[in-house]
Amino acid sequence: MSEVRLHIHLVTGFPKLVQSPLQDSIIRRAQTKGLVKIDVYDLRQYTFDKHHQIDDYPYGGGPGMVLKPEPIFRCVQDIKKRFRLEKPRVVLLTPDGETYNQRKAEELSAERHVILISGHYKGVDERVREALVTDEISIGDYVLSGGELPALVVIDSIVRLVPGVLSDYDSAATDSFSTGLLDHPHYTRPEEYEGMRVPDVLLSGHHAEIARWRREKALERTKQRRPDLYEEFMKRKALEKEN
Ligand code: ADE
Repeated sequence: MSEVRLHIHLVTGFPKLVQSPLQDSIIRRAQTKGLVKIDVYDLRQYTFDKHHQIDDYPYGGGPGMVLKPEPIFRCVQDIKKRFRLEKPRVVLLTPDGETYNQRKAEELSAERHVILISGHYKGVDERVREALVTDEISIGDYVLSGGELPALVVIDSIVRLVPGVLSDYDSAATDSFSTGLLDHPHYTRPEEYEGMRVPDVLLSGHHAEIARWRREKALERTKQRRPDLYEEFMKRKALEKEN
């Protein structure tokens, strides 16, 4: 077994919603290899009332329910105490958070412990944000019914960046965004499918030419689909040249 590089603590009112995706594919392999540990905490276990209530009506009225502060505080404090964490990253998944990107994924994957809190219903009591949360993340400008799926998105994206999780063959280093560009097109067998041929250069065996073709395609695709990324990339390259 390897040393645990990243320990993820996922705090949720809906543990069943997240369990299965955490037990499959690369996320499962990362845990089996002992590189990543993922614990799911059921907020209802941190309630003391008879009905295990995790949410309540909003003060001031209005639609929707708000997640209560006490179970979240108790759960996070319990995690901190148990693992002797002084100032861990505590991430709240919320549509009004900072928009998630690969840079943030890289930053989080370098931590030893990450606590993720899935918001649900209408929101989370503001005192949780004020006193517990260090980062607020949105996975995009659309509203989901809760932070569980966004938490899984964050987990998937950070687990695959932990060294040793991906084989060299699947390496994340050439992924879209990691290089600052979108990825180049990919082909596999057969060479011809319904009249559509794989580009000759990829069958040529000329590694330098293949690398050049991939680079060109990545640039072309980024310029066309994400002019914002393309511009940023070109600026960075120009700066690198100067220095
Ligand atoms: N909760 C609901 N919608 C969300 C989003 N887009 N990102 C993060 N958390 C959310």
